[in-house]
Amino acid sequence: MHITLIIFLVIICIPVVWLLFVLTVMKFIRKIYPFPIPQFFTNFIDNPIRRKFWQNPDEIAKRIGAKPGDVVVEIGPGKGSYTKAVARKILPGGRVYAIDLQKPIIDRFQKKLDEEGITNIFPSIGDAYNLDFDDNSVDVIFLITCLPEIPEPVKVLKEFKRILKPNGTISLCELFIDPDYPLRKTEKKWSQEAGLILKEEFGNWFAYQLNFGK
Ligand SMILES: C[S@@+](CC[C@H](N)C(=O)[O-])C[C@H]1O[C@@H](n2cnc3c(N)ncnc32)[C@H](O)[C@@H]1O
Repeated sequence: MHITLIIFLVIICIPVVWLLFVLTVMKFIRKIYPFPIPQFFTNFIDNPIRRKFWQNPDEIAKRIGAKPGDVVVEIGPGKGSYTKAVARKILPGGRVYAIDLQKPIIDRFQKKLDEEGITNIFPSIGDAYNLDFDDNSVDVIFLITCLPEIPEPVKVLKEFKRILKPNGTISLCELFIDPDYPLRKTEKKWSQEAGLILKEEFGNWFAYQLNFGK
């Protein structure tokens, strides 16, 4: 076999086929047993390659469009790289409420914020289905690779609609290598069913971001 073909197979085809196989198996397992992504896995998904090439935190924060003074809610902050990028954009005066189901994620994030002296992010344990915010009180809600792992996304989007201000934004970001990755049209369908209106869309099939209003 020609040497270039062998190199092509080894460097490109084999890893791609392997990745697709692993993703398919993980997708299948998660369909049968849905569970929140455990803490150790958030270290794996929030990595430098993703932040540099696929989902850059500053770029995502810019597209979200939060302004100084805004009240922001994030569901599923993970390691918090995206939370911190948005929190920088809303200074002075803005606050990000970072809510996650899992105590280890919240405890680790709070420790990191204390070490770094960041005071406008407020992590707390909570469930996206019932958010402790008044109607029409939040400027921005954002989720990065989180909505598709929630079993009833439309119900959660309706809860977001309840707390969102009339001119507020809900921003959803997805990445192909997430085992729960939904097609863009699926996420648009969920949002439509929840009564949301698409305002802007960014990215490509591999990594996309959708902004909705109500
Ligand atoms: C895949 S991680 C994403 C982490 C981070 N946003 C990132 O992209 O690196 C999804 C997170 O959403 C949280 N989560 C899942 N369902 C939730 C729910 N119903 N309410 C709040 N958080 C939830 C999980 O605990 C997990 O930490």
